[in-house]
Amino acid sequence: MDKIRIIGGTPLKGTITVGGAKNAALTLMPACLLTDETLTLSNLPHLVDITTMANLLAQHGVAMALNGDAANGGHTGRVLELTAADITNTTAPYDLVRRMRASVLVLGPLLARCGEARVSLPGGCAIGTRPVDLHLKALEQMGAVIELEEGYIVAHVKGRLKGAHIIFPQITVGGTENILMAATLAEGETVIANAAREPEVADLAHCLVAMGAKIEGIGSGTLKVLGVDRLHGALYSVVPDRIETGSYAVAAAITRGNIELVGARFDLMESVNKVLTEAGVQVEETPRGMRVSAEDCELTGVDIMTEPYPGFPTDMQAQLMALMSTARGASMMTETIFENRFMHVPEMSRMGARINVHGASAIVRGVPRLSGAQVMATDLRASVSLILAGLAAEGETIVNRVYHLDRGYERVEEKLAACGAHIERIKSSAGE
Ligand code: EPZ
Repeated sequence: MDKIRIIGGTPLKGTITVGGAKNAALTLMPACLLTDETLTLSNLPHLVDITTMANLLAQHGVAMALNGDAANGGHTGRVLELTAADITNTTAPYDLVRRMRASVLVLGPLLARCGEARVSLPGGCAIGTRPVDLHLKALEQMGAVIELEEGYIVAHVKGRLKGAHIIFPQITVGGTENILMAATLAEGETVIANAAREPEVADLAHCLVAMGAKIEGIGSGTLKVLGVDRLHGALYSVVPDRIETGSYAVAAAITRGNIELVGARFDLMESVNKVLTEAGVQVEETPRGMRVSAEDCELTGVDIMTEPYPGFPTDMQAQLMALMSTARGASMMTETIFENRFMHVPEMSRMGARINVHGASAIVRGVPRLSGAQVMATDLRASVSLILAGLAAEGETIVNRVYHLDRGYERVEEKLAACGAHIERIKSSAGE
């Protein structure tokens, strides 16, 4: 398994280009199942998870053509054409789903287009049990008959799904996305109350509208969908990744450097920028995106609680914890979305961070200097937080199991090295 080696202590200076959002692409790609025409997605990031989703869709019979990196308004991102002219298989197998939970997002589209689907239950992952019960209950409300057989969700519907009034008891990004896609082809109107408001959900809704769907309330907590008989193809550009943006903003802050994030959507960063500014980081919008600077700054601890959008994103909690470990004073960080998202804590402690976890909260007491160490990545966002800590630490840090990282960050070592970081990937020898 590849490792990342970092010699910390260099303030990062320069520019980093932000790619398309992983969590938008992973719901935009299965949307192609809703039509027999071609859906063309641009600004698509080059990530392992995207490849996994492409492999999943291919075995459903989706034809794909990758048109390489296309400059796209200053961003670089791949252009992928997806055509589900003929869905030859409605099963999403365990072997693919276990690798990426977002595979469950084929369920709604397959039910809407084909009237049936057999999707492996995603199973848990490092950060939590991550059930999909809310997805299933909502689809049943729309007329789907769903059984669980040998670890698979076996779903079918007689005729078309029916519009329904869905009230999610708790906010679920994936649940909102599955129902939103299913509702576009259902008979009648579907109301989704307590819908997730994440920008990636809005991105899906805008794409579906471009494909001919009738959706009101985009960006709000109540979505209204009037089902249509069919959707057509479209060309759609994936929204920039706000979590990648936030991760590199922390890279600038934790090294007390100064980086321009080209392609960043400043308007999607409000809760993250508010916390960074409170900590003493300078954040400003620029014509190409945003600039983050902490040169010669003494940062101070800030309390945060992760919340659904527009609150502080859970996907930025580990990255902020790395920053708070180097700030003056204490920071109370409470994780309200997932039950086990502090696995980066013991690894950061090996680097000299002073963090005490009490249930869903962690107290972080800043230290003058972290020290480099061998550490282990446990999940996607934890892995990037360890790299961020390594950028600030004295000496050498080796981050093991970086396959987690490659799922969600494109060429992270190249982007950081271009800003002066002493960072390299150590390729694993065969069989290691
Ligand atoms: C999406 O996961 C993201 N993944 C996650 O990003 C992100 O952390 C999460 O939303 C929250 O913002 C993708 O978009 C591919 P949820 P999702 O359904 O949809 C519980 C990353 O690092 N729940 O909003 O799976 C669930 O257990 C990843 O990029 C149920 O109980 O998240 C969790 O505690 C990590 N039953 C909470 O709700 C359900 O049926 C939020 O989950 C569904 C969810």
